[in-house]
Amino acid sequence: MRVGWAFCGSFCTFERAMGVMRALAGSGEDIFPIFSETAYRSDTRFGLASDWIRQAEEIAGRHPWHTQQEVEPIGPKQLLDLLIIAPATGNTLAKLAHGITDTSVTMAAKSHLRNGRPLLLSVSTNDGLSGSASNIGTLMTRKNIFFVPYRQDDAAKKPASLIAEMERIPELLPEVLAGRQPQPLLL
Ligand SMILES: Cc1cc2nc3c(=O)[nH]c(=O)nc-3n(C[C@H](O)[C@H](O)[C@H](O)COP(=O)(O)O)c2cc1C
Repeated sequence: MRVGWAFCGSFCTFERAMGVMRALAGSGEDIFPIFSETAYRSDTRFGLASDWIRQAEEIAGRHPWHTQQEVEPIGPKQLLDLLIIAPATGNTLAKLAHGITDTSVTMAAKSHLRNGRPLLLSVSTNDGLSGSASNIGTLMTRKNIFFVPYRQDDAAKKPASLIAEMERIPELLPEVLAGRQPQPLLL
């Protein structure tokens, strides 16, 4: 299966995401890594952009797409069977919910969805139960969009924060490919 794996700028979850992407590659999936422009250029306290890019390239065997021009053919050439956005930021969720397509990741999603194929979102945002809540709700009602089951991250210290259990992605794929939201959604 040809699986697009898109990284948005939730840098604290990159290590986990790389691990799950590596597991999928190890089980024989053909991985196409995608970095948002922010993910592609940002050095943060969680690591250097160049190191994350190199790691993704080593896992997938190809350099990550990171421009709208690179991902645009996903639609017309039917390049992917499944697109995973993990981690999905509040920013990207907001854009997807409102039809804004001005990044590599939102363009990849738009291009992929036109083929009627599944998009799996792994939420990671501190405003999941505040500013991003309505956007998550909007996306939950969209055709071919599915969510990795998520939970509150730290209810005491960050009461609005949501984090998806991305380690479960491999086991969710049959359900998602059959067009069903994996349950239970809320952990
Ligand atoms: C160190 C650091 C960590 C961040 N972590 C998160 C996060 O976990 N979730 C989130 O929604 N945004 C987070 N952000 C903010 C996003 O990177 C920012 O909204 C960015 O514009 C996202 O762009 P993208 O969605 O195109 O990747 C973080 C920013 C920085 C600098």
